[in-house]
Amino acid sequence: MARRSPIRRERQLLPQPVSPRTAALVDLDAEAAALRELRQSLGRTPREIPSKYFYDDRGSALFEQITRLPEYYPTRTERALLIERAQEKTVGLLDAVLADGGRPRYIAVDISAHALGRTRDILAAARPEVPVEQVLADYTRELRLPERPAGGRRLVLFLGGTIGNEEDADAVRLLARVREHLDPGDVLLLGANLVTDPALIHAAYNDAQGVTAEFNRNLLRAVNSFARSGFDPSAFDHYAPYDVEKRRIEMWLVARSALEVDLGRLGSVLRLRKGEGIRTEISRRFMRDEVLRLIDAAGFTPERWMESADGRFGLALGLSRRSLRGL
Ligand code: AVJ
Repeated sequence: MARRSPIRRERQLLPQPVSPRTAALVDLDAEAAALRELRQSLGRTPREIPSKYFYDDRGSALFEQITRLPEYYPTRTERALLIERAQEKTVGLLDAVLADGGRPRYIAVDISAHALGRTRDILAAARPEVPVEQVLADYTRELRLPERPAGGRRLVLFLGGTIGNEEDADAVRLLARVREHLDPGDVLLLGANLVTDPALIHAAYNDAQGVTAEFNRNLLRAVNSFARSGFDPSAFDHYAPYDVEKRRIEMWLVARSALEVDLGRLGSVLRLRKGEGIRTEISRRFMRDEVLRLIDAAGFTPERWMESADGRFGLALGLSRRSLRGL
């Protein structure tokens, strides 16, 4: 893959400019805020790097590779469930609207320009009649969408189990932010990983080929390119245990020896002792009721629940309503 300049990489993490006129201002604000957030995360106990930094071009390609690993069951379980219960993923849902005489538009929202391009290419090949709009956004912070045509309805797909990267309060905030773009009666389809055999979950984040380890270490390259920091990815071990009590995978990068890392634009030096770690992701497994409570708290009335036969993955359908409830 062609090397991208750091500027290019940085831009990937910034919200889509609203208009060219305000772009410079928006970008600078977003960049300063992102640097502040990163500095705060690394200063926290435990030290953290927000998992959104995984998804630079290389990280997005590595994640696609993960979804095809024999051990990584979530993607294929969710896809099978969607084929069975909601027709084949995005394309099937678009077909359902087309068959109904509708003229669907697809708005892809992602923090990764690479992932947006892949989505557009795949959809353009499969259903060339469906216009695809791309919104490059960090939806953990803010979400801006193009206007909807009058009378149009929205179906929001939040799939893959990504909601599991957030703690409850952040998950509700994120879903409530989505709901702000919806009218009463619009629909959310949310995919969530469910509690299952810990050994199986563990294997999905500790694959034999080491792709997940590479994905984890690549986060440091992405941070280096954004913050101009000096992390050496090879100085860290991938560690991804499943916590039975908290019902989540935690991904860590653990220093193999004592390290001093120049944090570049964050303006400090990070000292790690041998065996000290940085948490890079939580990936939660839910119970059904927890998922329904989350969407309810964010202003969606649970309408339907679908679950894979093996109980590993669930899909919740929620109807947007007027009021939030709070957890
Ligand atoms: C894309 C966030 C759903 O949490 O399983 C895959 C990311 N991390 N392997 C997940 C991921 C390690 C994935 N999500």
